[in-house]
Amino acid sequence: MSTIDYAEKIPNNVNLSEDRKLQRALETWQPHYLDWWRDMGPNGTPNYDVYLRTAISTEPDGWAQFGHVKMPDYRWGIFLAPPVADRKISFGAHKGESVWQEVPGEYRSSLRRLITIQGDTEPASVEQQRLLGATCPSLYDLRNIFQVNVEEGRHLWAMVYLLHAYFGRDGREEAEELLARRSGDADKPRILGAFNEATPDWLSFFMFTFITDRDGKYQLAALAESGFDPLSRTCRFMLTEEAHHLFVGESGVGRIIERACQVMKESKTEDLRKFGVIDLPTIQKYLNFHFSVTSDLYGAEVSTNAAGAFHAGLKGRFEETKIGDDHQLEDTPYGVTHYVDGNFKPIEVPALNALNERLRQDWIVDVAKGVDRWNKVIQRFGINFELKLPHVAFHRAIGHFSDIHVTPTGKVISAAEWNQNKDSWLPSDEDRAYVISLMGAAVTEPGKFANWIAPPARGINSQPVDFEYVRFA
Ligand SMILES: [Fe+2]
Ligand SMILES: [Fe+2]
Repeated sequence: MSTIDYAEKIPNNVNLSEDRKLQRALETWQPHYLDWWRDMGPNGTPNYDVYLRTAISTEPDGWAQFGHVKMPDYRWGIFLAPPVADRKISFGAHKGESVWQEVPGEYRSSLRRLITIQGDTEPASVEQQRLLGATCPSLYDLRNIFQVNVEEGRHLWAMVYLLHAYFGRDGREEAEELLARRSGDADKPRILGAFNEATPDWLSFFMFTFITDRDGKYQLAALAESGFDPLSRTCRFMLTEEAHHLFVGESGVGRIIERACQVMKESKTEDLRKFGVIDLPTIQKYLNFHFSVTSDLYGAEVSTNAAGAFHAGLKGRFEETKIGDDHQLEDTPYGVTHYVDGNFKPIEVPALNALNERLRQDWIVDVAKGVDRWNKVIQRFGINFELKLPHVAFHRAIGHFSDIHVTPTGKVISAAEWNQNKDSWLPSDEDRAYVISLMGAAVTEPGKFANWIAPPARGINSQPVDFEYVRFA
């Protein structure tokens, strides 16, 4: 695959110039996208020069270049991972058949729906994060949030390309709607719940990128298995970018934990609020919140929609080809946790119907590894505190557990008990107000960090930590 030509209006590796109609359609959408970016992208930033990485090739090594760019001039392009020669569908009813280069008629609306839902999350997170630059804890962090934002913008491009290229007029209409919905809007909200929550502070932002971008990773991985080859190739390239978003989240929370531990050691107290840092129990509450809200993104544990998408070969499982079963699941059982007769226990359901739950479980394993790494930071300081993921039934709004109240350790309680105690499990108004109160004026001196977060171990792309990651014009 060749290097991408940035002289083109829309940089791409899909030979866009050879399809005039598609090129015109996308060039019509492009100014609408830029309007959206100006209205809903990072607030007040058009003159900032930001040290960003830009994709220049889809080769695994050397796919990106780094340099200072004004964000509205960032070159959002269309990049698909190279095709895999002779690729076959690896699961479902069409297992063993050649992958599709065009949309099969009978799957047109399901496929469009999958692409639209994925596409909707991308601009949503940019909207959720648009005010955070004003309270950045350092230039390094400011650069990182902007990097995440421009790449989420590019992920929107990725989905819009598929809609325009393969779904005709319906696809073009969906692409316009992706720019019309707004995160948290009462009349025209984003499609999924977690993408309408506010992200009012940097702890929420880091938790979001650690936990909710990781849902993105698992959804993209499942779509990367798709029998619809352009979707698979698109998602494979998006996953390359996604890894940095997860890093930003995990290291961000890790640095907040590190700072808390430092102050606990120095001050010999656990009462950290008077020092203007975020205490570990508060971090636990934010973890509980983001984990439970993101758990809901996977949908109901038992789902015929998910079964249909798998059976049709549209959306696979995480690392489908590495799983040692028949990849059709017509007669395979899968244990899904239910609450019956006062106990949580696994009930066997057809595996085909349990795919949402299975993907959620894969994601939980991955989240738990990150939490273990945070706990290592705490252990290094010799502090006796452990962050824990809450029970899967805790604070759920979708699926089996949405009508029961459950503590983080998995005890089922009454609504009254829930209301009495929920502020000790989820961020209370007071907790949120405290965290927001720490978000002072942007820290913009290179190498300086807000009091509530430790500096990173190293800079971006081998630059020093005190590099001028953002220049203000
Ligand atoms: Fe994304
Ligand atoms: Fe992301």
